Amino acid sequence: MKKMNIAIDGPASAGKSTIAKKVAEQLGYIYLDTGAMYRTLTYAALSNEVDLQDEEALHTLLKGIRITFLTAGNEMQRVFLNDEDVTDSIRSEEVTQNVSLVSSFAKVREEMVARQKSIARSGGVVMDGRDIGTVVLPDAEVKIFMTATAEERALRRYKENIAKGMTTSLEELTEDMKRRDHLDSTRSVSPLKKAEDAIVLDSTHLEIDEVVKQILGIIEVRLNPLQTLD
Ligand code: CDP
Ligand code: CDP
Repeated sequence: MKKMNIAIDGPASAGKSTIAKKVAEQLGYIYLDTGAMYRTLTYAALSNEVDLQDEEALHTLLKGIRITFLTAGNEMQRVFLNDEDVTDSIRSEEVTQNVSLVSSFAKVREEMVARQKSIARSGGVVMDGRDIGTVVLPDAEVKIFMTATAEERALRRYKENIAKGMTTSLEELTEDMKRRDHLDSTRSVSPLKKAEDAIVLDSTHLEIDEVVKQILGIIEVRLNPLQTLD
């Protein structure tokens, strides 16, 4: 049976990557974190002192780098910039503050989208991001638009940061999240937007496993349209 592609979009900290990873695991599909690709380019630009306003320079930089993902057993997926493991570095505050700017340029997006489409060519991919259902995989068999209130999302990121020993206050995190969501939703090229045929899933009051269960249910119905959800 041909494997499907599953697109998961939504604002920062809605739970996309946590849930996409689990859904991919359950299905034996590949998980692709497109945000990590934009973060890796941002990290490379900062490390190489490339002007973050310079679209041409960012595009040239991207054309010259490899971004790869490595999953070993049950371990967390590692992200590589050429041969450098950047899994932790791409989550720094500096990268987080600059990634929406780097992601706003058409030439950057064009190259990223081409790479993402190529990975999903044969199906069997769960991809999360901002423009997956609208631009990268407009023909994806299942499209989810995941949301949660800004307060809940900031609180989630806060708890995650505390566990990592990071000290940004909840107020700063909330502000940064709102700023990033605004930039991502208002940019002219592929803004964060629900695809017309996407199913909206509000995870504000749902546990992770409950959201995973709901998505697996949606996929099941897609595979066997004559069944109904319980
Ligand atoms: O995990 P978090 O919600 O912080 O964000 P992410 O998924 O790692 O994405 C980081 C940033 O990359 C987003 O705020 C967007 O600016 C950009 N991005 C994008 O423009 N398009 C995508 N498909 C994925 C991410
Ligand atoms: O990928 P995205 O930025 O949308 O979010 P994430 O990194 O998957 O999730 C952000 C945080 O929210 C993680 O610490 C998740 O464990 C947590 N989360 C949650 O508490 N409840 C959910 N229903 C979904 C995610």
